[in-house]
Amino acid sequence: MRTALSDEFGLDLSLFAFNYQPDVVIEVCKAGGLGVLGAVRFTPAELREAIEYVEANIGGRPYGVDVVMPAKTLAVAGMEVDEMHDMLEKMIPQEHKDFVERVLDQHGVPKLPADAEQGRDLLSWNDTEARQQVDISLDRPDVVLIVNALGPPPKDVVGEVHQAGKKVAALVGRKDHALKQVANDVDIIVAQGTEAGGHSGDVATMVLVPEVVDAVGGRPVLAAGGIGNGRQVAAALALGAQGVWTGSMWLNTVECAQPEAMYRKFANATSSDAVRSRAYTGKPARQLRTAWTEAWDDPANPDPLGMPLQYMLCAEAQDRIRRAGKEELMGTPIGQLVGSFAEVRTVAEVIASLKEEYARTVAALPSLPAPAAV
Ligand SMILES: Cc1cc2nc3c(=O)[nH]c(=O)nc-3n(C[C@H](O)[C@H](O)[C@H](O)COP(=O)(O)O)c2cc1C
Repeated sequence: MRTALSDEFGLDLSLFAFNYQPDVVIEVCKAGGLGVLGAVRFTPAELREAIEYVEANIGGRPYGVDVVMPAKTLAVAGMEVDEMHDMLEKMIPQEHKDFVERVLDQHGVPKLPADAEQGRDLLSWNDTEARQQVDISLDRPDVVLIVNALGPPPKDVVGEVHQAGKKVAALVGRKDHALKQVANDVDIIVAQGTEAGGHSGDVATMVLVPEVVDAVGGRPVLAAGGIGNGRQVAAALALGAQGVWTGSMWLNTVECAQPEAMYRKFANATSSDAVRSRAYTGKPARQLRTAWTEAWDDPANPDPLGMPLQYMLCAEAQDRIRRAGKEELMGTPIGQLVGSFAEVRTVAEVIASLKEEYARTVAALPSLPAPAAV
């Protein structure tokens, strides 16, 4: 599972893994892949702490950081975060707040206790905090890759990353988006099909990967969306990718430290239970179907708001749902792979079986039908 791209990063496996739990990132790196720490849920100060924890446990191995700089958002570039928060909060209609309360009432979700700590409702998917996160990451010699989701990273950010001697990757769901990334001098294109967990387009991985490989003039492409076992890795490389970018498969690991109820929900879900909905962030994102997504996806109810208002509107509700343990409302971004999740395993076990299946798959290739003689 080595390619020219993984050799460039000094990896044993061309396996790139997105997760927001530092322990998952550490274990992927120890097993020979590149763990990439999702930063959007962290404040810049929390990211610094998480990075220090990763570096204390990773034995000097390289790793990456993923930020979210949306091309289209209601957040304003360069504005102070508190000021931006106040401005955005005023944009949330009362009708939507009432609807949230109605759904919570219907499911018997209690209010937060009076002494509950206020959670974060504006995540770091705004230019101000994402730029601070990039700067923090660029100061760390072992960060070798900065990844961006939701559009081309600003050109000056790409320049800064290159100046620091590091590489930039970006996620795309369409060929024309890939061409925009190339124009912005992004080094690695992550072609992410609709099967993927989180924000996704509507083109399938099988169609998107070769389309993007052919379009980007030799830039390395990572295949993403629905890749979680050795056969899928072999297929991705056969489509012309130089490696795989994975997300959902790590959610069912010990190190991801999910609530027990979530592991139970994964075990009972089918691939069709990973729906593309605007309920979570306001942009279409694949996630577990729940009574919450069903309520937002019902045309009789208010339309989800734009990003980042929808998350702001629902953050406290999500906190209440978790505290109350209301399983029918508990969700997470997740891809269609959820239908094939089996028992919860450690990251090391998952990677060992992926490698073993990859080896078996490649060994069996000569048994495919021979090409017709020409
Ligand atoms: C829980 C979850 C959160 C995600 N959050 C982000 C994110 O913050 N930034 C990002 O670039 N991609 C994010 N993604 C998408 C992943 O980076 C990756 O592209 C996707 O999971 C690949 O498809 P798969 O889910 O089928 O493996 C997220 C995915 C999941 C499952």
